[in-house]
Amino acid sequence: MFIVIEGPDGSGKTTISKLLVERLNDIGIKARYTSEPTASHYGKRLREMLSDSSSTPKELYDLFVLDRIEHLREISEWEKGGEVVISDRYKYSTYCYQVSHGLDPALTEDNNSLRTPDITFILTTDVDVLLSRIETRALSKEIYETRGFLEKITAMYERLPEIFGEEFSYIDVDDTIDNIVSKAFGIIKEKASI
Ligand code: TYD
Repeated sequence: MFIVIEGPDGSGKTTISKLLVERLNDIGIKARYTSEPTASHYGKRLREMLSDSSSTPKELYDLFVLDRIEHLREISEWEKGGEVVISDRYKYSTYCYQVSHGLDPALTEDNNSLRTPDITFILTTDVDVLLSRIETRALSKEIYETRGFLEKITAMYERLPEIFGEEFSYIDVDDTIDNIVSKAFGIIKEKASI
């Protein structure tokens, strides 16, 4: 089973993803946390490119897709080994971020047609809440962590069902971590019949 956690910067994806892995482990289900950009050579290059504003959205797009194709191979291997895989970001990040950055949506087909996850959560809430979380944690912000950009991204995440024609589970993260994790875990249990 392949589960994706998406959302704008500051929405708490990493914390929630890791807690979901723990909850699954607690009930005897093997689960693994993974994330994009990955730790591969593509992912490392991407992190460098995200810390300054000289790269074009097309350059970022191409590398994100290469990173993701490699990641999908690993994900399939983990699933074959009986693990539930929870990925912190996936193809929806590329669509939302690189299109908001100016990429023509017509050029995103090779990304958008990649495998559809079994469950995709979108963690989101008011931009003010997201921004205050980013400010308390970050010393140096990445190029996408500004108010204007967060507003665009948040609006883009709302449009995903219409763009991808897939089912998304939206969770408002202006709540306690415990409540957010319990909601998401309830949805996983229902969809996986566990
Ligand atoms: P992430 O590691 O989730 O952020 P953080 O540094 O807060 O843990 O992602 C790093 C940045 O990469 C984030 O601003 C979103 C961006 N990103 C894209 O623009 N496109 C993509 O396809 C992905 C996976 C991430």
